[in-house]
Amino acid sequence: MTEAGRCPVVRFDHNSDEHSTDPVGSYQRLREAHPIAWSEAHGGYWILSDYKAVFEAARDDATFSSERNSYGGEGLSVVIPKTPMPFHIPIEIDPPNFRKWRKLINPITAPAAVERMQELVTHYVTWFIDEIIESGECDMAEVIGVPSIVTVDWLGLEVSDWTRYASAHHAALAAVPGSAKYRHAVEVDFPYLAGKTRDIIRARRENPTDDIISYLVQQQVDDRPVTDEEVFDMVDLLLAGGVGTTASLVSNTVVWLYRNPEVRQRLIDDPTLLDKAIEEFLRFFSPTQALARTVTDDTEFLGCPMQKGDRVLLSWASANRDPAQFEDPDAVDIERWPNRHTAFGIGIHRCAGSNLGRAMAKELLSQILTRMGDYVVDLDALEAYPHQGTNTGWQRIPATFTPGERRLRDAEVPNVAR
Ligand code: HEM
Repeated sequence: MTEAGRCPVVRFDHNSDEHSTDPVGSYQRLREAHPIAWSEAHGGYWILSDYKAVFEAARDDATFSSERNSYGGEGLSVVIPKTPMPFHIPIEIDPPNFRKWRKLINPITAPAAVERMQELVTHYVTWFIDEIIESGECDMAEVIGVPSIVTVDWLGLEVSDWTRYASAHHAALAAVPGSAKYRHAVEVDFPYLAGKTRDIIRARRENPTDDIISYLVQQQVDDRPVTDEEVFDMVDLLLAGGVGTTASLVSNTVVWLYRNPEVRQRLIDDPTLLDKAIEEFLRFFSPTQALARTVTDDTEFLGCPMQKGDRVLLSWASANRDPAQFEDPDAVDIERWPNRHTAFGIGIHRCAGSNLGRAMAKELLSQILTRMGDYVVDLDALEAYPHQGTNTGWQRIPATFTPGERRLRDAEVPNVAR
């Protein structure tokens, strides 16, 4: 790759400790100097960091493919470096095949379907807060385990396994690739959980219930039943999508609101502000920082020469801080509107779970603000995710607050370890 014009070789690695120390500053420097640049890290990849480049690439699936392939190694195509994950449907499929798979997912994540899930979401949030509300102290990161248990229950997986699903997916996204925690997730937890998931898929095919796995095993594509392995590939993606992202959003938001008490008070005084505020927190924190594509043919993209097989990182997070698109992008304006953020991606692969993610974040934030709204975070004891390349957030948020009362009656408390 030549050092030509606006497409130079830069020293950048979104997985490095240096980047994790200050992801916002790291992307800002890159965006201001070279919004399209090439890094030699991880076998080489392009980084797109302004809104225009990210927007155009995300909408051009013919050139920027999501399909699993061997360029850049084996594994999940939408991350750099590729992680050894099972094939994920539909995120690793390009059109035209993509459409028939996405059609199966849309009905279970559409607004009406998520409205039907509200009771489940409220129930788990209420329980998680009940468990700590009388003590007046907690690790708020544990309260934010809600998205995992909701996703596991909704899919029809074993709810008693929810912490194992949560920690494995968290490690895959937030531990340093190659670290002991990461390897344990990939080599021990994932194979164990995959075995259990496959057993449940087989069982639901025999005896369907009313969960999502039962729905998926009864679907057809190309006039034939969806296979167990295809169901697994969708379930595993729904887990990966549902578990870490919403937790990342809420963990960042609660710490930010502690540091900005006047905004916290506004949200307590006027909960109708929450919907727009969540869109702004999505923009500001971009829980999924960046995802990858592969170039399908030699091409010139916004003046940069790209070659077939080049890997490309689209930074949703950096696009979300582009001053050409957002006025005063480094400030949080909870009433910002319009807010065309890229936190859920852009184009055909735009997040299938956005309504569910929003609903879980809203219920968590509502109950935190109404039931423990005077929380004080011990900032010295905060622990950030060790690796901020894919998801940013806090894995330990020790806090104290005025104790309150439980809401669930004994009979309503789930019989599951937290
Ligand atoms: C705050 C929460 C969330 C954020 C920030 C987020 C972010 C994203 C992003 C950026 C993409 C685009 C992928 C791409 O272009 O390659 C995506 C896709 C996806 N997300 Fe989410 N997500 C969230 C919540 C969820 C939830 C709760 C679920 C499911 C339960 C989910 C399931 C999916 C699926 C299935 C896709 C793939 C869609 C496709 O390929 O057509 N996400 N998400």
